[in-house]
Amino acid sequence: MGKVLPGLVISFVSQKGGCGKTTLTAMFANYLNTIGKKKGLTVAVIDCDDFQRSFLGIRERELASPEVTQEQKDNMYDVYAINSNEFKDHIVELKEKYDIILVDFPGNMVQEGVITMYYLLDFAIIPVVPTPIDFSSTLKFLEKFKEIIKEKKEKFNLETSYVGILNKVNKNEKESKAIINSINSGNLGIPFLDHSISDLVSNRRAASTMENKVTFEQRCVFDEIILMLTLHVQKSKK
Ligand SMILES: Nc1ncnc2c1ncn2[C@@H]1O[C@H](COP(=O)(O)OP(=O)(O)OP(=O)(O)O)[C@@H](O)[C@H]1O
Ligand SMILES: [Mg+2]
Repeated sequence: MGKVLPGLVISFVSQKGGCGKTTLTAMFANYLNTIGKKKGLTVAVIDCDDFQRSFLGIRERELASPEVTQEQKDNMYDVYAINSNEFKDHIVELKEKYDIILVDFPGNMVQEGVITMYYLLDFAIIPVVPTPIDFSSTLKFLEKFKEIIKEKKEKFNLETSYVGILNKVNKNEKESKAIINSINSGNLGIPFLDHSISDLVSNRRAASTMENKVTFEQRCVFDEIILMLTLHVQKSKK
């Protein structure tokens, strides 16, 4: 058991490369680490993207940077790199140690151990970029994702809660508007957060593993996710 929560395993997942899994993981981990300190909440990130190690790369660059102060280093949450096929061997121990474990997933479902990782998730957030190309590959991913989640429920009677989030939104683009309207009318068959993340250079820069300025938009999204996590925890207790 974590100090406050029963070691929640959360991840931004999608087979679609570049939809923002790593960026959103970093933003959310920083936010949780900042607000969690007051509540004694411990956060860790596991980089399971064996072939890219983007998350670990960001942390290593920050640790090596002369611009990063000792105070900033002291406030950093723990980051682990674990191969996807070894995830199941480490997750129980990590759930005992931390309240919240964010997993930076690979953008594929064929890497060894990835399907087992889906079984071990408590909460999945699916980033969707509202452009025609991203939308069609997300549809394919969602079919597989729902199958895995259903199979997990049937085999183990364990729930993974999930929600979609629109990322890299450019509300001025005509095509995006049509896709957003279609998603909001429930066409993807999954619930979506009310708030979304815009396509902004400042969001690209937010891929840092240190405390960062949180924008109003990010705060709205993350508070909405936290509310859903709270509901998930309450439901699991019953
Ligand atoms: N909201 C955003 N606004 C602008 N740029 C963004 C936003 N979110 C992500 N990006 C950029 O999109 C690119 C892909 O993001 P990221 O690496 O987080 O995706 P990913 O899903 O982790 O990709 P992969 O599947 O390769 O691991 C990066 O250059 C990142 O800076
Ligand atoms: Mg990534």
